[in-house]
This record gives sequence, C-alpha cells and structure tokens, in this order.
Amino acid sequence: MQSAATLTLTRPDDWHLHLRDGALLAQVVPASARTFARAIVMPNLETPVTTTEAALAYRERILAATPKGVSFEPLMTLYLTDNTTPDEIRRAKDSQHIHGVKFYPAGATTHSASGVTDLKLCWRVLETMQAIGMPLLVHGEVTDPAVDLFDREAVFIDEQLIPLRAAFPRLRVVFEHITTEAAVDYVRDCGGRDQMLAATITAHHLLYNRNALFEGGLRPHYYCRPVLKRERHRRALLRAATSGSARFFLGTDSAPHTRHAKESACGCAGCYTALHALELYAEAFDSVGALAALEGFASFFGPDFYGLPRNRDRITLARSQWTVPEELEFGPDTLVPLRAGETMAWKLVS
Ligand code: NCD
Ligand code: ZN
Repeated sequence: MQSAATLTLTRPDDWHLHLRDGALLAQVVPASARTFARAIVMPNLETPVTTTEAALAYRERILAATPKGVSFEPLMTLYLTDNTTPDEIRRAKDSQHIHGVKFYPAGATTHSASGVTDLKLCWRVLETMQAIGMPLLVHGEVTDPAVDLFDREAVFIDEQLIPLRAAFPRLRVVFEHITTEAAVDYVRDCGGRDQMLAATITAHHLLYNRNALFEGGLRPHYYCRPVLKRERHRRALLRAATSGSARFFLGTDSAPHTRHAKESACGCAGCYTALHALELYAEAFDSVGALAALEGFASFFGPDFYGLPRNRDRITLARSQWTVPEELEFGPDTLVPLRAGETMAWKLVS
C-alpha cells in the first residue's frame, strides 16, 4: 500500500555491491542486510576472487559477518582475468552460489589491475558462459588515457560492447552502473526480445550530477567510477529507472573506502551508500513523482533477470527526516557515507 507518508514494497536486493573483506566485513554487511535480502557481491578484493574456491570461502566470511537472526544471501561473482579458464566457469556454475563473472578492463577502477587487457583473450570463456547461461557483468569504461574521462562509457559501447554482443548474441550481459544517456539508449533499444541485456543504476547517479564533485570545493566522497556526469545524463538515468522497463534495476555500487584513502592527493573511487541506499533511491523516484515505479526497479526486475525468485517479505519506508552520520567506524580509520552530515527525506522503519 502506498500513501503520501509511507511506502511499502517487496524487500529489494542489491545487484551490485562491494563488501571488502576481513574485519571490515562486520562493519558494512549489517547495513546492506538491514534493507536487502540478497546482493551480487563484487570480486575486486585486494587479491581478486578469481576461482570458485576463493568465492565460496569469501561467501562464508560474509555469512559469518551477517548479524544473527538476519537473513542475507550473498550472490557471488568471479573476477575475469586474461587467464580465466572455461573449466573454472563450469565449476562456478556447478557451485550454485556464483551468479556472474565480472569484466573489469584492466586499470578502469579500484582493484582492477588484474582485469582483462584484451577481451579477445577471453573468447573461449565467453563461449562457455554463453552456453551455460552465466551472466557477464561489465564495467563499461575504456581505459585509453587519450579518451576524455567523461566519454569513456560512451566509447566503450561502440568499441567493446557492440562487438562483444554481436559475437555472443546469447550471452547474458549486465551493463553495470550506467551513467550516460548513450548507455540508457543502448540498453533500452538493443536488448533484444529475450532480454539478454540489462543495466544497473546507482542511487548517486540518479541524485547527483558532476557539479557535486566541485560544489564549494573538491568533494572526494562524491568521486566514483564511472564518474558523475552532466545533468542531461542524470535525467536520462532517472527516466530509465522510473520507466517501468525491466532492463533497468537497482545496484548501489556502494563501495566503502577509509576516510584517509578518499581524502588524499590521489583519492580512491567509490561512494558508500549501503547505509541509506533505498532511502536515497526513494528520494530520487519521489523527485519525479514516480514512487510507484520503485518496487519493480528495486525488487522485481533484478531477480527476474538473474532467474531467481522474487522476495516474499515486505519493508516500509516513511517520509521522515534524519541526518546522515558524519562518519562511521571502519577498521582503524573511519568511513564517510555519501551525504554525510546532511538530511535524508525517507527512513526505513520496518
Ligand atoms: C568501486 C570500488 O571501490 O571497488 N569503485 C567505484 O568507484 N565504483 C569499483 C567499481 O565498481 O568501479
Ligand atoms: Zn562497483
């Protein structure tokens, strides 16, 4: 039921999440588990998760960091490298806990140094993925330093995504954290009837444009990859997310880094939003009068794409103001959430 003051919807899932590892897990897993029933967990640890064995061990560490009595299912992924083998992909599929293989172009973002240098080296692996129905999760930015940083997603579509999908038309692809009108248009128009292509969209790309990086001074906690774009692109993302198209669904890309690593002469990319993710999405949808479209985007289209059941329980948000903490505990350092010290319009109440 929906009214002006509250919004109740099927419990959502997060289809793109960074949880890190070790002692840090206990400080971020509870925030995601509070809102989301499941999350696609990114494999870009300091030692990338390149094998089924490593992914299953990581899964156990995440479950150990989940508060007692809370149900949270980590959906694991493998990190694609030049050396990944078709056998490893088959093992991953057989494990039943690995739901995607992440393609980072080498050097595109945080912990991507072991990523793919040339997709041609992965051809046999991609054939296997296509044959057994293992989705490829794509960080869609070229890494050529000659290409303007703000254009790297659009260039990626032309140079890599279009040829990839022409070569593997039955490969299921998730274009992760899209940030441009070009990506919206491509996913909307080129998905094919069988829905082989979908995209995740973050809350911060729905709420902010690139001015947020520079408003009143340099603001490192708004820096992520792909970087925030112009207002025109933000509006295109918001139209896509609220359109009711099953090709677009929720993926926070919540990516915690220590305050020290962010507030530095060469700060890390990544915004921490797990704390208040659904509330941020609600605000974005509400801004265009589209709260009724939130449930499909947050709770239905993701599981439908991944071939998993929709969640059964429900959660409720209330229109209630609160202030985002300035910082949270994070190992020996602290973690600054997006919008720290500022006001939120929605609150998860049950
Ligand atoms: C992510 C991270 O910190 O792991 N950073 C980011 O800016 N989004 C990596 C990624 O998803 O690109
Ligand atoms: Zn990410």
